[in-house]
Amino acid sequence: MSDSSLPALPTADRPDVAARLRDALLAVSFTADGLLELLGAPAYAALARSETVPALRATRGDTPLELLVRLFLLQQPVSHARVADVLPVEDCLAAGWLVRAGQDGLAATVDVRPYGGLDGEDWFIVSDLGCAVGGAGGIGSREEGVVLGVGGASTTLAGITVRTPVGSALDLGAGSGIQALHAGRHATRVTATDVNPRALHITALTLALSGAPAADLRQGSLFEPVREGETFDLIVSNPPFVISPGARLTYRDGGMGGDDLCRTIVQQSGERLNEGGFAQFLANWQHVEGEDWQDRLRSWVPRGCDAWIVQREVQDVTQYAELWLRDAGDHRDDPAEYQARYDAWLDEFEARKVKAVGFGWITLRRTDSAEPVITVEEWPHPIEQPLGETVRAHFDRIAYLRDHDDAALLDGFFRLAREIVQEQVGLPGAEDPEHVVLRQHRGMRRATTVDTVGAGFAGVCDGTLSAGRILDAIAQLVGEDPVLLRDRTPAQIRLLVEQGFLEPGN
Ligand SMILES: C[S@@+](CC[C@H](N)C(=O)[O-])C[C@H]1O[C@@H](n2cnc3c(N)ncnc32)[C@H](O)[C@@H]1O
Repeated sequence: MSDSSLPALPTADRPDVAARLRDALLAVSFTADGLLELLGAPAYAALARSETVPALRATRGDTPLELLVRLFLLQQPVSHARVADVLPVEDCLAAGWLVRAGQDGLAATVDVRPYGGLDGEDWFIVSDLGCAVGGAGGIGSREEGVVLGVGGASTTLAGITVRTPVGSALDLGAGSGIQALHAGRHATRVTATDVNPRALHITALTLALSGAPAADLRQGSLFEPVREGETFDLIVSNPPFVISPGARLTYRDGGMGGDDLCRTIVQQSGERLNEGGFAQFLANWQHVEGEDWQDRLRSWVPRGCDAWIVQREVQDVTQYAELWLRDAGDHRDDPAEYQARYDAWLDEFEARKVKAVGFGWITLRRTDSAEPVITVEEWPHPIEQPLGETVRAHFDRIAYLRDHDDAALLDGFFRLAREIVQEQVGLPGAEDPEHVVLRQHRGMRRATTVDTVGAGFAGVCDGTLSAGRILDAIAQLVGEDPVLLRDRTPAQIRLLVEQGFLEPGN
């Protein structure tokens, strides 16, 4: 992979300089909160979309924070003398974070973006210059090995990742290092891999500048850098999942045909997981003519793993091609070239009989159960991040349901989950509602229709009475045969538990 025309990176061998730079950045509130306050919400959000004009307008002043935003986020050369008041300039020049620009100017060699961790940590994500510049025009550099900063996919994966303290974590395709940075908060050992050596260098810079422990950095494709017999408690990957007609950009085009790269990562992760460990991926998958997309995904799940696969969005092949043509800035090219590229995408999809592409999350948990549970669902609705705890609890509930037959379920105790409300749906003025809906205000924000028994049951669940005892009381109340009620209700209880409305336990 060539990165010859990409600028030289700061050295990763001067952690002392990274620490001094970090202190200087924090001293002037070059943090996510500081940035939000300086820019205001619209300009801050625009910057996250790589639109720089609003931020340029908000940083015309001469405060240290404005200076640093222009330098590290907006790629503006700034006066050497002014920067020297704020940063350890000579150190930064020596370590390659800054270079001289013009007669009395300094420029940054990398994009440095303040990033707030899930527990309010003040971190910094390093990436290649150009990744915050370009806006609607597409990314700033089309070099094959360019390393991007934080995108929507990065924060989605960070948010859904299970954050239980673990011994070992693997971040496959580390890029800027954002997932490794998060993993370092709850994993004793973090291994970060990438096929692109520039990405590993940038991961090291992100960790050092964020004051995080160093990771074990290994170059190589997919699981190649993982040693024989080596296993992990957590594997995360936001892989180059784009299904494209040929590899052009390492950060997004995996270089394998169709959705083979995502399938391979999912399939090969099972044997690299410790028992009880989670593997979490973002992925794109093909919807192929004559094939059920859910069956396609089920076939990817490795043996011994429970799986939860959530399709968040589906795009038809034209929307999909346009999305990634714009992402690469191809729409700025000569129209004939743009059309040829567009055509190539559609040729590729036609050859593979692909009608649409699904986007979503794949989570595996290795249980080695003889009866693995694979849930594949479409959930395009808003959710509440971070979802890591919701994901962990989902797998715990699935294991509970597997281990409890209907008789055991009726002997079990349940609690109504937090922030569930009941809605009655029907014509205004009607005596009885047509439907009763339970709605979650947290996590997946699911809603489910229940009958009056289901609603009554859920309402009583506070962990003090067994499910069977509650049903007997309801049977008496509504004049129904308790045996029949015990017989027909477990299916509904299972659904409420599976979807997180009820939690096992007293
Ligand atoms: C979409 S970026 C994700 C970066 C970062 N982990 C994040 O969440 O923002 C995908 C990363 O995978 C790397 N990559 C591409 N092909 C790979 C392969 N075959 N094996 C390992 N990593 C690969 C790219 O270099 C890039 O850094």
